[in-house]
Amino acid sequence: MFISPSILNADYLNLESDIKQLENAGADAIHIDIMDGRFVEPTTWGATTVSAIRKITALPLEIHLMIDEPERSINEYVETGADVIMIHPESTVFLRKTLLAIKQANRKAGIALKLETRVDVILHCLDLLDVVLLLTCDEGFGGQPFHTMALNKISQVAKLREVHQLDYSIEVDGGIGLETGKLCKTAGADILVSGSYIFNQDKTKAIHSLKNI
Ligand code: DX5
Ligand code: ZN
Repeated sequence: MFISPSILNADYLNLESDIKQLENAGADAIHIDIMDGRFVEPTTWGATTVSAIRKITALPLEIHLMIDEPERSINEYVETGADVIMIHPESTVFLRKTLLAIKQANRKAGIALKLETRVDVILHCLDLLDVVLLLTCDEGFGGQPFHTMALNKISQVAKLREVHQLDYSIEVDGGIGLETGKLCKTAGADILVSGSYIFNQDKTKAIHSLKNI
């Protein structure tokens, strides 16, 4: 499994040290949750912080944009040097246009679906997707429970990939630990995002346990 630790539960005054620890612990990427206090309640970081993170790690950076009207911010996130930019269809009326802007900037484009969002929404964007990110908890906070209702959606997204002979990655985010990660892998997930499971214990052990799931 490809493991992308979320830094939502990191120590914000010591992000560099936490990211270096994740790198040394075998992380495959860093998952950065950008929250605007509107699309989701909390506010986290902006593009300036992502640019600062870009300078201290060579790991791929994936940006999970939980902001309203992401089309207004794509350019600034492209300029950070982030590798993957994921947007929510619930946050924009310019879904295809925004995904296209990400692709045209030579970044990987992802669509992120909240728990209650139907998989059908990706049907008219399949040609633009490098990643489908399925939230497996309610959005906005780390440390929330995993919902098994997401498993069926993982299978649906995997089936669509097979039927249409596509190669997007299927990534899951929220409440991922050993047991829930296994369930997601069985359902068809390739990438696990994990925050509190990794930050609440020895990071190397946690990441290795998830890799070998
Ligand atoms: C939730 C975020 C997640 C969150 C996951 O809205 O998208 O990335 O940080 O954290 P855990 O693994 O603690 O559920
Ligand atoms: Zn996330």
